[in-house]
Amino acid sequence: MGLFKAGSMVYKPVKEVDLSRESSEFYLHANVKAPRMAGILVKIFAWFLESRIFGTFLLYILKGNNLIHKLIRDAELEEPPVYNPLHPFEDLKEQDVTCIGSDLTPSEQVKLAVDCLPVSSGKTLNGSDLHFRRWTISDYSRAYSCGEITPLVVAERFLAAVGESSKPPLQMSFFINYDAEDILRQATASTHRYKQGLPISVLDGVPIAIKDEIDCKPYPTTGGTKWLHKRRPCTDDAHCVERLRLCGAILVGKTNMHELGAGTSGINPHYGATRNPYDPSRISGGSSSGSAAAVAAGLCPVALGVDGGGSVRIPASLCGVVGLKPTFGRLPHTGVLPLNWTVGMVGILAGSIEDAFIVYAAMNGELQLHPSPTLPKICFPLLNKTTPINIKLAKSVEWFNDCSDDIRTCCNNALDKLYKRHGWKTVEVTIPEIEAMRLAHYLTIGSECSTSLSSHLQKMNFAELGWDARVALAVYGAFSGKEYIKAQQIRNRQMQFHKNIFSQADVIVTPTTGVTAYSILNDALKTGELDYVNGAALVRYSIAGNFLGLPAVTVPVGYDKTGLPIGLQFIGRPWSEATLIHIAFAMQALCISVYKKPEVFYDLLQKNEVHQEICEAKELNGTRPTSGLNV
Ligand SMILES: *[C@@H]1O[C@H](CO)[C@@H](O)[C@H](O)[C@H]1NC(C)=O
Ligand SMILES: *[C@@H]1O[C@H](CO)[C@@H](O)[C@H](O)[C@H]1NC(C)=O
Repeated sequence: MGLFKAGSMVYKPVKEVDLSRESSEFYLHANVKAPRMAGILVKIFAWFLESRIFGTFLLYILKGNNLIHKLIRDAELEEPPVYNPLHPFEDLKEQDVTCIGSDLTPSEQVKLAVDCLPVSSGKTLNGSDLHFRRWTISDYSRAYSCGEITPLVVAERFLAAVGESSKPPLQMSFFINYDAEDILRQATASTHRYKQGLPISVLDGVPIAIKDEIDCKPYPTTGGTKWLHKRRPCTDDAHCVERLRLCGAILVGKTNMHELGAGTSGINPHYGATRNPYDPSRISGGSSSGSAAAVAAGLCPVALGVDGGGSVRIPASLCGVVGLKPTFGRLPHTGVLPLNWTVGMVGILAGSIEDAFIVYAAMNGELQLHPSPTLPKICFPLLNKTTPINIKLAKSVEWFNDCSDDIRTCCNNALDKLYKRHGWKTVEVTIPEIEAMRLAHYLTIGSECSTSLSSHLQKMNFAELGWDARVALAVYGAFSGKEYIKAQQIRNRQMQFHKNIFSQADVIVTPTTGVTAYSILNDALKTGELDYVNGAALVRYSIAGNFLGLPAVTVPVGYDKTGLPIGLQFIGRPWSEATLIHIAFAMQALCISVYKKPEVFYDLLQKNEVHQEICEAKELNGTRPTSGLNV
């Protein structure tokens, strides 16, 4: 990457950096210097940071120790800053896609997406070699259409399940807010539509949960805090939520999240630590913790999250579900808390890639985040093709390997399967300056977060904030203009490196996280915790998706020795969601036979075989809804 001069980094010009496997660029392991803190220690630490004299001194030491001075503030770089990761739309000419018109309604788009799915018989687990799979949108839609169950019954089961999971002994803390009356009202309307034979789309009557950072009537938008909603009332649905409502989805409440999205554990001191359905003594990951855990536990096939630094992909990976973060600017962002402007994106958590695709199709279009000169075309992957597409994967070996042994082995096995089954080759490359990018992103998201909240923070009583959020805000507030701009120069370099990698391969492949779900310790429950070592391992592979605006998807590929889920991530070219969905679909098909049922799981459809047979018989006579998993 360059050389250290008098303790600070002198970066080589981008064009002199060698990105091949044999490159002499070294991989700098994250060298986080901060002990884990919780309980009284976090409080003392926050007090020190907030005190004018000690705080300034302490922050200076912390930034220095954690290489922010060396790699960013004092670094010498010649590239000008790039402030915004919005990529001009380029027609990628992706393989096996169909591009849709720009004048369609959300439900028409959903219909076209469903048409791209392979037709399967909708068989349940009986008679197949699957251990476990979650019910998909198509399963719900089929069960409603043939009268096997109604949305109202599903809503009642949902409410009972959330009630049970919220209370001791489970205390899963999936939701911040849900309103039984509102849910039953939506379910009754949907039931009525099915009775008349007029469902709006396959999403009609399907429960979908929303991260409490996205506006959704009739709920306040707390952002995981006890105060933000009092100062910023929610007056309308966010655009993405409105589009789902237009498709008939039942919006089942607001999911728990890390306070202000300012952390990755999902431990929220006000609304409880979201627990991992695969092991309730462990974290679910964050910040979209409740959305991931609710999907994993079977409470809804899909939930929305927001991903500013891996916040969708990290909890998806830790909870064993799919996480899709589209290209920056792809989905409408109106009605999402503006906690930052250039790194966050609405994302989707789902039990299967098909369901992530259907919801992506529903939300896509209209009102881009920033008007782009050429409006990006919307293309859908033809997953019904039997001949697979041809893909080349890029892997930066040292970075890829910087994770736990179980994760490395499991992710490498998954790549072997892709190679054996589809012949997809992996080219080895070097992606330099990963740690500098992580720090530059941290400076950026932190500066944007403290700026966006500044008018509130001046007036507020800090006692309303959790302790770990107070520490985060103190650190965020200490970044300088110079540091921010240097970070954007790093952004420019990385945009160029990645462009170069994408001229050699279609996607970059990495594990999704460096560690699996770690334990929730009791001292963290009231104060939150600071665990920057685990935090850095969780975000290790997420940053390019946010800082560079690239689309990315995580797919569950297996479990570690203790049975905790492991995700594999594919990062794509700007606007290449269709290809990413294709790849994720192929990966899922090769791993689905090992999927396991979580310890905490609710079966909202509770298929009963007699009903099923009636249903199958009816389907044979009429027009059969297309479906779900092709197994
Ligand atoms: C796949 O889906 C597309 C889009 O709906 C359709 O036009 C095409 O005929 C389908 N192909 C197959 C092999 O089913
Ligand atoms: C940045 O914004 C995104 C989306 O608004 C959110 O998910 C994330 O938590 C935010 N992070 C911070 C540190 O503000």
